[in-house]
This record gives sequence, C-alpha cells and structure tokens, in this order.
Amino acid sequence: MTDPASERRRMATLLVSEGVLKSPWLRAAVEAVSREGFLHPGVFLDEGRTWRPVIAADTTPDEWLKIAYSVDTLTTQLDGRLTADQVGEPVVGVPTSSSTDPATVVGMIETLDLATSHRVLEIGTGTGYSTALLCHCLGEDNVTTVEVDAQVAARADAALEAAGISTWTVTGDGLLGHPYRAPYDRVVATCAVRRIPYAWIRQTRPGGVVLGTVGSWPWGTGLAKLAVGDDGTAEGPIVGRSSFMQARDQAVTPVAGDLSARTTYADSERRTQVSPLVLEEWMPAFLAQLAVPGAQFVRATDGDGLSMLYLFDPEKESFAAFLTDGASWTVRQGGPVALWDDVERSLVAWQDAGAPEIDSVRLRVTPVSHRYWIDQAPSLRWEHRIV
Ligand SMILES: C[S@@+](CC[C@H](N)C(=O)[O-])C[C@H]1O[C@@H](n2cnc3c(N)ncnc32)[C@H](O)[C@@H]1O
Repeated sequence: MTDPASERRRMATLLVSEGVLKSPWLRAAVEAVSREGFLHPGVFLDEGRTWRPVIAADTTPDEWLKIAYSVDTLTTQLDGRLTADQVGEPVVGVPTSSSTDPATVVGMIETLDLATSHRVLEIGTGTGYSTALLCHCLGEDNVTTVEVDAQVAARADAALEAAGISTWTVTGDGLLGHPYRAPYDRVVATCAVRRIPYAWIRQTRPGGVVLGTVGSWPWGTGLAKLAVGDDGTAEGPIVGRSSFMQARDQAVTPVAGDLSARTTYADSERRTQVSPLVLEEWMPAFLAQLAVPGAQFVRATDGDGLSMLYLFDPEKESFAAFLTDGASWTVRQGGPVALWDDVERSLVAWQDAGAPEIDSVRLRVTPVSHRYWIDQAPSLRWEHRIV
C-alpha cells in the first residue's frame, strides 16, 4: 500500500529537480502537508469535453493518493456550486474552484521571498492547500486567507482545522483585500484579475510585495510582482506566464449569439499586416490585452463550416472581424475604437523590438492608473486609467 509520507517526499523531490522548490523550509512544508486532506469530498478529472467526478470514498486508497499527488490542478467545484459527491457521472461545466497544480503553488510561494516574520494575505483560499503550506512556513497567525465562495471557504476551513491549523479564513470578496488585519508584508492571489485592485497595495506595508496574475483571457496572462513604495504606488516586472481562474466578479461573460449579425456594419476594411492567428500565442495575447483591455478574442465557425475570428469589446461597442482567403487576412472594424489597429500597432512594434518575452514587461500601479511598458521598445507603453 502506498505511504502518503513517501508520496509527499516524491513530490518534493520532483519539484526540486524541476528547479521550482528551492527553500529548505518550503520543502519541509511540502513534505508535511497532506494534499489529499484538502480534496474533500472529491475532485473532477478532466476528460476533454466532460469532467469525471471522483470521490475518496469510492476510490482505493492507492488510487486516491495517486490522484492527490499528481502534478495536475485538481478541480473541486464546477459552475460555482457542484462538488464531485453531487453527481454520479461525467458532467459538463466550468471550473470555479480547485487545488492548483503543486508546481504553480510552490513556485508562487518561492517568488514571494518570504521571511518567517512575514504576514501574508492570500486571495482565493480554494481547497486551503496553499494556505496550509504558508501556515507551515509562517505560523497560522501570520496568514489571512480570503475566499469569495462561502461553501468553498467552509470546506477549506474544516480541512485546515483537521490538519491542526487554525488560521484566519475569511469569506468575502478578496478584491477588497481584508483591511482588518492589514498591513501585510505580502499579498498573493491565486485567482486572476483584470487589474491589480488598489486595496491590495493600500493594505501592504511599504517595501512589501503584491503578487498576482493579470489579464482576462484564459491564456496570455502574466504574473505581476510589485514592490510597494512609500508613496502608495507599486511597481515591478511581470515575472512570467501564469494562468488562473478569473476572480469571480471579474469573470468575462463570453460574447455569444449571432456573431455575423453583430459585425454587419463595419466602418473600415483592410488587409492585416499581422495574422490574427498570432493571438493564439501567449505573448501576443498578453500584448493584445494591454492594447485593448476590454476586448475578447473569439473563434467561431460560420454556417458553411468556415473558421471565423473576432475581437469584441462589448463596453466600447467595437469589433474587429477577420476573414482569410488562405493566403492573407482581411479585417473589418466597426465601432468607436478600431480594436485591431491598436493591437496590430503593438504587435508590429513588439516584433520590431525582437519579440521580447513577457518578463520584459513592467507594471506601475497608482490609485488612478495602471501603466505597462517594455524598456527596450519605447513605443510599447499602455496606460489604463481607473478614474
Ligand atoms: C485556483 S483556486 C485557489 C487554489 C488554492 N489556492 C489552492 O491551493 O487550493 C481559486 C479560488 O479563488 C476563489 N475566488 C474567485 N474570485 C474570488 C474573489 N473575488 N475573492 C476571493 N476568492 C475568489 C475561487 O472561488 C477559488 O476557490
């Protein structure tokens, strides 16, 4: 029979060999915290189009440990309500809570540059597994964790208590932080945000760090690591690619319905300089979100089975619709903002600058704006005004 402690050691060794797990104190936490203790009542395994529910009670202990110590993200809730014990067969749904893959969780904790005295605010408790790792490193009193979903928070709290951890599990909207226990040395978010809420910066001590994933597409998002200054601003690099489920009240409602009807009246039509297919790649998708922050990239099929691409910005009532003859692309744009003109300008400047990776991007947050830029390409800068 598989021994949970040896599974934890195996996972720690794997994370060390991948270069993700570096700190001895974090290794001790990974070897001590039982991931399976945070998966009650079960998980949904990805089967492509559907999610297969698996609950511990119906699984052999060996199989359950194999799932718990896999390198995957384990989805624990679908559509903001369903748990694996509530369905008997595979279902369709959108993941709304999970135990993030251990490499991402551990990598983020390493990126926080923690000292044992640090007070941390975590946004997105989820299963409580990452909270438990933080508590193992810092002590339960130094960790505050906020979860927006009351049932998810209750399950995480019970799992933490069962693991002997009585930390501050708060049910609430993490976009507001948790002012009552501020100031924090570190704020870390395990859900993605369209922009870093200023509350996180206000609740962080000068010299502290805010770490969170920015962007609203399912790909093309980046991990911002911001140092908070004495003047109430925060600045730092996008340290790498990062993908998380979107914070709940910021989740984008997909553009649906008859897309060709929405794009009937175009103001302009021209050949593109760049193929819109590049938006399926990570860095171009990140740049597009900087250039037109409210826009969504939509791929659809028309009545004749032809593949169609669009950019829609519902707030700005603007669209770009792309057509190809197989050799080149034409874009038709409508509405007050020529979305593709803005995106294409950024893509061309980025290509001219040698196509730098996402970690070349810097972000500065003030109470009124988010400014992004790339040092090596002076024309690549974007300002998103909040007020
Ligand atoms: C990827 S899961 C968190 C993974 C977790 N850290 C773990 O290790 O199990 C993201 C969580 O963020 C929560 N969430 C989404 N929007 C939120 C918000 N506005 N405030 C707080 N939590 C939020 C979701 O309900 C979900 O449980």
